[in-house]
Amino acid sequence: MSFERIDVAEATLVLDLSDESNPRVAYLGPRLSAAAPLHQFNALHAEGARPATADKTPRVTLVPVAGFGFMGSPALMLGGGRLCALTLTGVERLSEGLAIDLRDEAEGVHVRQLWLRGLGCFRVSTEFHNTGERPLELLWLAAVTLPLPAWARTHWSFAGRWAGEFRATRSEIVDGVHERVGQGGRSGFESAGYALIGDGRESDFEGSLLGVHLAWSGNARLMAERTGFGLAQMQVGERVDAGAIMLGAGERYRSPEALLCFTDEGLHGVRRCFHAEADRLRPREQSPRRVHFNTWEAVYFDLDLAKLTHLADAAAKLGAERFVLDDGWFKGRRSDGAGLGDWTPDVERFPDGLGPLIEHVASLDMDFGLWVEPEMVNPDSDLYRAHPDWVLHHGAHERPLQRRQLALDLARPEVRAHLLDRLDVLLRTNRIAYLKWDHNRDLFPAHSHDGSSAHGQTLGFYDVLDRLRAAHPHVEIESCASGGGRMDFGVLPRVSRFWVSDNTDAVERWRIQSDVSLFLPLNRIGSHVGASPNPSTGRQLSMLLRARVAMFAHMGVEADPTKLSAEDAEILAQHIALYKEYRGLIHEGAFASYAGDDPDVRVWMCVARDKSQALGMAARGEQARGLISQPVRLMGLDRAAHYSVELLRPWPAPARFSLPHADSWRAEPQVFSGELLEMAGLLLPLVHPETCWLWRLTRVETASQ
Ligand code: DGJ
Repeated sequence: MSFERIDVAEATLVLDLSDESNPRVAYLGPRLSAAAPLHQFNALHAEGARPATADKTPRVTLVPVAGFGFMGSPALMLGGGRLCALTLTGVERLSEGLAIDLRDEAEGVHVRQLWLRGLGCFRVSTEFHNTGERPLELLWLAAVTLPLPAWARTHWSFAGRWAGEFRATRSEIVDGVHERVGQGGRSGFESAGYALIGDGRESDFEGSLLGVHLAWSGNARLMAERTGFGLAQMQVGERVDAGAIMLGAGERYRSPEALLCFTDEGLHGVRRCFHAEADRLRPREQSPRRVHFNTWEAVYFDLDLAKLTHLADAAAKLGAERFVLDDGWFKGRRSDGAGLGDWTPDVERFPDGLGPLIEHVASLDMDFGLWVEPEMVNPDSDLYRAHPDWVLHHGAHERPLQRRQLALDLARPEVRAHLLDRLDVLLRTNRIAYLKWDHNRDLFPAHSHDGSSAHGQTLGFYDVLDRLRAAHPHVEIESCASGGGRMDFGVLPRVSRFWVSDNTDAVERWRIQSDVSLFLPLNRIGSHVGASPNPSTGRQLSMLLRARVAMFAHMGVEADPTKLSAEDAEILAQHIALYKEYRGLIHEGAFASYAGDDPDVRVWMCVARDKSQALGMAARGEQARGLISQPVRLMGLDRAAHYSVELLRPWPAPARFSLPHADSWRAEPQVFSGELLEMAGLLLPLVHPETCWLWRLTRVETASQ
């Protein structure tokens, strides 16, 4: 056996399969030419004996195991201290990539690893097959193990909390293990299944980076390790609870898929790779992203038909195209303390069901969306009273609550059948275009009736979702878990978008959306205009900033439209109209998010694939340090072309006084070369903190003089 390569748009991966006891990744880097002589890797990276280590040189193989001289963390761990020594026994070429077989015949273990070509990423998964007679307990199986390249210097993690999701933290790789673990049974606020490895020089547009993500909605484990000896590796896989994966003779466990990308164009390159991958996984029911109005922040649990009707009227006036009825509509639900599990409209609030509201919404030319939290149950519900044994619980122990609710045991087929039936009835008897699917607690104890734990729960969730989608292919679904608690590429092909945070404060969203967009494209990020003062932060922000931040995503409104001032309502309506005009560009174009040369300014640019137009904004966080304004570079343009640049109004307040040639900007767009806009930038005057400029660019045939 020899060397095999897989290419994606910007990168090449080479597997060295020449030594059956040491199959490994030989190269993951910039794309190689078709003629690259891979056989030379043998001599190129030939290694002699190392001092003070096993005589048979242990390397980071495709699945490193313990017990045979490898001194790093193993990628496979079995219960009872069982060891296996894996040897390469076969390579199969598939249309999408390679299947690699590793075996320990004596132990009855067969491991098959798939290396597949995605659009922007490589896709790797590993299957463990118990081919022996004895049962085996699987404690850990990495979906992928990567030797860290010699250039690896930094490690980026993404962790957050409710209303403060997905904060990027960059740290130096030091000796030892840097481990991220998800515990809550969903991909969670820990976002343990995401990481970047950088060369230490990485920035918005430059530097080498590896991007890694586990496409899985349950617990993840990711670790980067460097030993004093120089061994360096990264592994990612499902974090498995003890006893959850017991494999009898002939049984298999298949890991979730890990996505890997390499780029030498900095964070922008990571974005491009993962956005391409997300496009490959786009669900067929995804429509142009309609403007939502969602009732949660406007009314919370305090709702009735009259109020909702009134809200629908006001939302339609603003330009909303979908009315999403959030929590509080179902039987007995007056607070978060009751009702979950009883998915029928509350008869006091909706004596004639949801029909009259849906009809009213339809008469306003909006479609209708509904909030559900199918996996959960309140102890105070008919469902729990009828089936107290249907929840995750541990024997007679206390059943600890979070948000006063328990989680149903989705490993039980009867629970899945029940949920499917309830959701199916809802969708069959009401004209519902959209479900906001929430999940508001961690799983503890994640103790299912069959011991499959968070693993079985995640598979059960996928099963219900998949069968529901098959039965109702036109219903769009949003993944929400107290905001961004379930954002991952396992659920991504099954949903239209993510509610990335309950925090609708535009300053917070500016940060959250910038970080989340490293992996998720803007057409998957739900962003709504919140109230001011904001319910999460108390911050007061202009409608200009609030509307503009929400526009660079799948836009919606969460603030009560009946309470907006006339001026705010007008600004919002104006931006909703602009969003509708530009959503094709925002959602299908290339997105860049980068720090301005002025460090207190962040820029978002969406450029059409053919570079014929662009929409961008620059927002200022802090007050400028100096009084001299710095140009803003407009990245991603056609450098050979000219663009007419229009600074969209309303302009931030102080600009009225300080914009040079304000009258000519007011009168008509200015024309500049794409090259100069990108290389030298456009100088915009200083504005107050927490406000922004918005511009549109249109390519023109000839330059004006
Ligand atoms: C948490 C979600 O993130 C909110 O948007 C809202 O739907 C509430 N749940 C409702 O209970």
